[in-house]
Amino acid sequence: MTDPRPAKTSAPPFRRVPGHEWWRTEGSFFLLSEAHRSEREGQRALAFLEGVVPLPPGARVLDLACGWGRVAIPLALRGYRVVAVDISPVLRLGRHLARAEGATLDFVRADLRRWKCRARFDLVLLWGMSFGYFREEENARLLGLVRSWLGPKGVAVLDLHHPAWYRRHYVGEQVELTPGGVLHDEVRWRPRSRRMEVMSILADGEGRVRARQFHDFREYSPEEIRRLARRAGLRAVSLHGGLRPEEGPPRPEESSFQLVLEREGAG
Ligand SMILES: C[S@@+](CC[C@H](N)C(=O)[O-])C[C@H]1O[C@@H](n2cnc3c(N)ncnc32)[C@H](O)[C@@H]1O
Repeated sequence: MTDPRPAKTSAPPFRRVPGHEWWRTEGSFFLLSEAHRSEREGQRALAFLEGVVPLPPGARVLDLACGWGRVAIPLALRGYRVVAVDISPVLRLGRHLARAEGATLDFVRADLRRWKCRARFDLVLLWGMSFGYFREEENARLLGLVRSWLGPKGVAVLDLHHPAWYRRHYVGEQVELTPGGVLHDEVRWRPRSRRMEVMSILADGEGRVRARQFHDFREYSPEEIRRLARRAGLRAVSLHGGLRPEEGPPRPEESSFQLVLEREGAG
């Protein structure tokens, strides 16, 4: 359970501004920050997935919290039947990019926690740090939904920040020059709740604030996420570090880890 008491830290909590919930605008900020890397990252994800998960041609793939389809579009171009779900308006861009690239896939705008889907999938993805945004119980429930969307031989793959790496390299201030302006992130770590808080401000060349957004997420170590998955009836098949297809614990210099899960009792 998440400890509801505020963490002991000298920094006061960020003020939450109604209407600035991160997912209303996340698409645009995330896009700004990652646009230049999107194609390469999508291809790396595809190569990794095909290296670790035996996917039959035309396999059914569900990409949860897909953003603008950074991974979903390359998967669709590869011939997989992809359903990609996200709550953010950035899906409009995903649809546009997919059309431009000749990819056929279903983009669905929905809140993952409430989305109803009767189809079953060979691969369910939570990619690019798309997990941990909710309270502990809701995060666990989402894994239960992931389990329910897996077909008989289906696997789920989670791609998460490596908490130790993230704390070492990301906490504090980050400034990035993006095509949309200067993106300034202030990142705080709350040890008690094990949540990362990110306040982002987008400013123009004169330093005028154009938009701001806030988001926070629970960071899970490989062991913690394994435990949460077990509660949801999912069993770890393999653990990878930094998109290396070979199995093994993530190394300290790697920013992410990938956990492959299957239904308890499958296989
Ligand atoms: C860090 S981005 C990752 C996007 C994508 N998976 C990728 O790797 O490019 C996280 C995504 O989670 C989505 N998201 C957050 N809360 C959500 C919710 N409740 N339901 C659906 N999507 C959500 C955001 O809109 C955002 O696109």
